[in-house]
Amino acid sequence: MENILPQLPFLATLVCLLLAGSVQGHLLSQPTIDLHIQAQEQLISQHNDSAYVQRLMRLAKSAEMRSYINPKQEPCDNFYEYSCGRWPLINPANDAHPRETNLEQLVVKAYRHKQQRLLEQPPNEETDAEAVFQLKQFYASCLFYRQTPEDLYRRQLHEIVGEFGRMPALSLPGQEWPGDAFDWLDTVAKIKRRYGLDIVLLLQLQSDRTYVGQPNQILPGPDSRARAESIAENLERHLGVEPKLALKTGREITEFEQLLAKGMLSRRVGVLGKLRTPVELDEPYSDIFNLTQYVEIVLDRELADNETIYEHVPSYLNHLAGVVVATPPHVLANYIFYELLEYFFYDRTVSPVEQCVNRIREQFPELLENMVYKQYGDAATLSDINGVWQQIQRSFRGVLENASADWLSTDTREQLLGQLNETELEINGYANINFTEKFADFAIKPRDYLHNLRTVRSRESLVTKPKIQTSASYDPVKKRVLLPVALLQPNILWSRYYPRAVRFGSLGTLLAHELAHSLEDAAKWDAKSFAQYSKRKACFKDQYSRLRLHGEYLPESDLQAENIADNLAIQVAYHAYRRYLAELASSALVTEVLPLLDHTPRQLFFLSYGQLWCNDANGQFREKHSLLQTSTPNALRVLGALSNFPAFGQDFACISGNQMMAPKKCHLFTINVD
Ligand SMILES: *[C@@H]1O[C@H](CO)[C@@H](O)[C@H](O)[C@H]1NC(C)=O
Ligand SMILES: *[C@@H]1O[C@H](CO)[C@@H](O)[C@H](O)[C@H]1NC(C)=O
Ligand SMILES: *[C@@H]1O[C@H](CO)[C@@H](O)[C@H](O)[C@H]1NC(C)=O
Ligand SMILES: *[C@@H]1O[C@H](CO)[C@@H](O)[C@H](O)[C@H]1NC(C)=O
Ligand SMILES: *[C@@H]1O[C@H](CO)[C@@H](O)[C@H](O)[C@H]1NC(C)=O
Ligand SMILES: *[C@@H]1O[C@H](CO)[C@@H](O)[C@H](O)[C@H]1NC(C)=O
Repeated sequence: MENILPQLPFLATLVCLLLAGSVQGHLLSQPTIDLHIQAQEQLISQHNDSAYVQRLMRLAKSAEMRSYINPKQEPCDNFYEYSCGRWPLINPANDAHPRETNLEQLVVKAYRHKQQRLLEQPPNEETDAEAVFQLKQFYASCLFYRQTPEDLYRRQLHEIVGEFGRMPALSLPGQEWPGDAFDWLDTVAKIKRRYGLDIVLLLQLQSDRTYVGQPNQILPGPDSRARAESIAENLERHLGVEPKLALKTGREITEFEQLLAKGMLSRRVGVLGKLRTPVELDEPYSDIFNLTQYVEIVLDRELADNETIYEHVPSYLNHLAGVVVATPPHVLANYIFYELLEYFFYDRTVSPVEQCVNRIREQFPELLENMVYKQYGDAATLSDINGVWQQIQRSFRGVLENASADWLSTDTREQLLGQLNETELEINGYANINFTEKFADFAIKPRDYLHNLRTVRSRESLVTKPKIQTSASYDPVKKRVLLPVALLQPNILWSRYYPRAVRFGSLGTLLAHELAHSLEDAAKWDAKSFAQYSKRKACFKDQYSRLRLHGEYLPESDLQAENIADNLAIQVAYHAYRRYLAELASSALVTEVLPLLDHTPRQLFFLSYGQLWCNDANGQFREKHSLLQTSTPNALRVLGALSNFPAFGQDFACISGNQMMAPKKCHLFTINVD
C-alpha cells in the first residue's frame, strides 16, 4: 500500500515554498499541528495521482538539495563547502539554542512531530492495541489535567510528600517541623522504592548486578541566583509557599545542590564499579549512614552476608558523608522533597502538549518507538531498507574478497568475512516486547493524570529505561547494526520517489559505516595482518592531522576507527550503487536524476553523502568542540573520505592539484568499479 498520508504536511510546506518562489526557511522543520494543513492533506489524498505526486516529491528533494549548495564553490576545491555552503543561512546556530544544527536534529524534530500526531489520534478501544489504547488515554489525561482546580492539584502534591513524611517548607505557620523524626536515608530509599527516583543516592540493577552510589551528575549552571529564584517560583506556584520562605528555601536548595555536585563525576553506571560485600559497603561511612540498610529498603529484602554490591563512584560517597554532616536536617529534607515533587510538577501556564509528550517519551520510550515503527515500518519500507542493507553487505564482501585485501592472512580474511556475514541489521522498534503483557491491568483514570503518573512510576520503579537512539550504531556484543526508527521516516533520507543515488549516498553510507566497525574485533586479527593494518592506520593518522578547519589543524590522533569506517563506507556504498546502475535498464536512468539539478547520478550520490553532514555551530561551541576533540568535525569527515577516493575525482572531473585530490591517498582496501 502506498503510504501517502504522512508525507503530506511536508508536501504542503513544499507547495507553499514553491508558490513563494523561494527556498528560504526550514524545509524539514515541521509546523505544530495546523488544522488548515490537515484539511489540505485530506484533499490531496483523495485526489491523488502518483505521477503528479512523484514529480512533486522529486521537485521537493531537488529544491532542498539546491538550497544547501553554494554554487560559487568548486566541488573539486571543497566539496563540503559546495554541498553545505548555504546550510548555515537556512539552519543557523545561535548563541543560545541551538548552538549546533545538523541533519540529525531535523530528523529528530520531524520524528517527534510524528510521535505527537500518533498520540493525538483519539483512543479507540476497538482498533488500538491494548497498550496503545492505554498510552493514548494516559496522554489524554495529561492534556486534560490542565483543567484540574489548583487546590486539588496542590492537595495531590502534598499527598505525595505525605507518603514519606513532612517537608519543612510546607509546615503551617507556627508549626514546628519535627526534625528529630526525619531520617534522610530512609526517606530517599522509600522514594526510590516507590517512584524510582534517585535522589542523593542511586541504585541500579544492571545485568544481575546491583550498583549503589552517585546519581546522575548534577551540572550546576553559572547563575545560581537564577536557579534559586526559579525554585522559589515553583514553590510558590505549585505548592503555595509564601514568597519569603520560598526564596530562602530556594537559596538553601541551590547551595546544597552545588555542594553535592562538587563531589560528582561524569561516569556511566557500570564503569569502574567497586565490588563490596554488605559489611565492606558500610564500613567507611558507618558513623554517618548505613548503605546496606538503604539497599535493603529499596530492594525490600535482606542482603545475605556473602552477597556482592557494586559501589558506583566511591569518592562521591565519601564526599556525601561530609556534606550530610555539615548540612542542617531541614535543608536536606527540603532538597529531597523538592526533587521528589519536581518530577510531578504540572505547568498549567503553558500549553500541555509539549510537557505531556515529553512525559510519555520518558515513561514509555519503547512503546512510543514501537508505535511509530508500526506506523511507518510497512512491508514496502522494510523491504526497501533491507534491500539496501543486502547490497551493502554484498559489496563489502566483495571488497574483502578482492585483490586489494590480499595483505590480510587467509585466516584473518575468513574471520572478517564471517563477521560481515554474521552481522545483522535490526531496526530498533522494540518489536519483541509484548506490550499487552507489560501493561496488563494498568488502569488509567481518564481525569487524573497525577494518579496515572504515580501508578506508572511505581510499577517500574527499579527498571532502567533505555536511552532511545537517533542515529545508527553498531552493537559489538550482539553483532548487529541498529537503525533507529527515526531514520525510517519517509522523505528525509530516502523515499521511493527519489533517485536511488540519494538512498545509497545517505542510508547506504550510514549502514556501511556501522558495518565497517564489525572489522574492529581484535580477536579476529592475527599479528601479521594487524601489523599491516597499523601501517595503513598510520597513513590516516598523518593525513587527517593535516586537515584544517577554520584555519586550525585537526590534532593528531591515534583514534582512527571512525575515519577508517568513513573511508570504507563511501567506497562500499558507491560500489553498491554502481552495481545498481549497471543493472538498470537505460530507459530507467532518467529516474536517477533530479529536476533542476544538473548532476549525473553518480554526482548525486556524492552530493547526498556530503549533505548528510551539513552542520553549523556557533563560535563558542566550535571552540569547545575542538578542545574536546572527540571526533572529526563533519566537514573534515567529508573532505577526508572523498579526497581519498579516486572515483570522486573522476566523477567531478577534478584535476591533480585540486584540493579534493589528495596526492597521497590512504586506504585499507580499494574497490574495483569496472
Ligand atoms: C491514491 O488513492 C487511492 C484511493 O484513495 C489509493 O488506493 C491509492 O493507494 C493512492 N495512490 C497513491 C500513489 O498514494
Ligand atoms: C547496617 O544495617 C544492616 C541491616 O539493617 C545491619 O545488619 C548492619 O549491622 C548495619 N551496619 C552498621 C555498621 O551498623
Ligand atoms: C552465599 O551463602 C549461601 C548460604 O550460606 C549459599 O547458599 C550461596 O550459594 C552463597 N552465595 C554466594 C554467591 O556465594
Ligand atoms: C557469507 O555469505 C555468503 C552468501 O550468503 C556466502 O556466499 C559466503 O560463503 C559467506 N562467507 C562466509 C565467510 O561465511
Ligand atoms: C502477549 O501477552 C498476552 C497476555 O499475556 C498474551 O495473551 C499474548 O498471546 C502475548 N502475545 C504474544 C505475541 O506473545
Ligand atoms: C571484485 O572483483 C571483481 C572482479 O574483478 C569485480 O567485478 C568486483 O566489482 C570487485 N568488487 C569490489 C568491491 O571491488
